[in-house]
Amino acid sequence: GDGGEGQAVKLASIADYRAASRRRVPRFLFDYTDGGSYAEQTLAANVADLAAIQLDQRVLVDVSRIETRVKLLGQALSMPVVLAPVGLGGLHARRGEVQAWRAARAVGIPMALSTVSVCSLQEVTQGAGAAPWFQLYLTKDKAANEAMIATAREQGCPTLVLTVDLPTPGARYRDVRSSLTGAPGLAGWLHRAAQVAARPGWAVDVGLMGGPIAMGNLTGLVGAKAPLSDYLGWIARNFDASADWDRLAWVRSQWPGPLIVKGILHPDDAALAVQHGADAIVVSNHGGRQLDGAISAARALPAIMDRLGGCIPVMADGGVRSGLDVLRYVSLGAAAVMIGRPWVWGLGAGGQAGVAHVLQLLRAELETAMALTGRTRLA
Ligand SMILES: Cc1cc2nc3c(=O)[nH]c(=O)nc-3n(C[C@H](O)[C@H](O)[C@H](O)COP(=O)(O)O)c2cc1C
Repeated sequence: GDGGEGQAVKLASIADYRAASRRRVPRFLFDYTDGGSYAEQTLAANVADLAAIQLDQRVLVDVSRIETRVKLLGQALSMPVVLAPVGLGGLHARRGEVQAWRAARAVGIPMALSTVSVCSLQEVTQGAGAAPWFQLYLTKDKAANEAMIATAREQGCPTLVLTVDLPTPGARYRDVRSSLTGAPGLAGWLHRAAQVAARPGWAVDVGLMGGPIAMGNLTGLVGAKAPLSDYLGWIARNFDASADWDRLAWVRSQWPGPLIVKGILHPDDAALAVQHGADAIVVSNHGGRQLDGAISAARALPAIMDRLGGCIPVMADGGVRSGLDVLRYVSLGAAAVMIGRPWVWGLGAGGQAGVAHVLQLLRAELETAMALTGRTRLA
């Protein structure tokens, strides 16, 4: 790239990566990633409620050896962090999901590839030499759902993640303002093109050299081009708003391996997920991108831990911006966290090296937080 690696060494924190990504990718892409729905209250609460959890400083404990490894659904993770599924995440750098999964694999943590990724599951699996987890959205096209699950099986995905908090997309004002959604005509195209022209490095790396810009897992439904003029509109028309708990049971019947249900906030829903065959859940409000006004994940987690009483692993996501935040979720009982925006900012700022450095930062911050709280093991 054009100095992505050199730049990466000078960035000290995940916040630095956010700023660097903002300078590097077109505005519609930065805002799509950074933003949440409506007034972005839940997005802000995810970050604020997590940051408000005080950590207990403990001293004179032997912390010369810190162990961050965990086991999750039969898999060994070098730390309790998973790259969250991020739709269009791969747009942030050339064949971006391949680069991100390579970085995660090198560190020894999983990545969940989104249904609406740019690169197909096959491309990502081939490009990194192993299958990632696959995240499924249920579309109205039953054959397409079946085909995606079958592909995940054929490719050897260790785990399937069914995301249940997007029967219909929440409104994201920033995407309207940037013409990423609801702007099918020439005016919208020109508006997006102007934003691309303001980021020539990205325009060459991704726009010119990085194609095809498609939804790799859905080319049968969408065609060979991603609907960048009406992304959320396409989702609203094609995702299956009729899905209910029986559909989870159906997915369960199609998938023999570990099945994670993502997007649970209510203890009753957590219990229902277990009843319908989930092997784990992710407590999540989709990064504050769906129901604005919903409870933050950090606040929702304790009641869900109580209700489930340890019968399955509970993961959480939303608002992790440092290794300290990873420890905060773990302290509430999370088996692992997912990170969404942080890895995408790393990718936008520095490609695979950027993602690798973001993960290195998280790891170092987690180890230090464990040492200063006098905990050598996450258990
Ligand atoms: C740009 C963007 C796109 C997303 N797309 C998906 C998706 O395709 N599937 C999914 O299950 N979750 C999706 N999410 C939610 C993330 O998986 C995750 O729950 C969220 O980003 C966690 O919050 P964080 O970004 O503060 O870490 C998306 C999030 C962002 C920011």
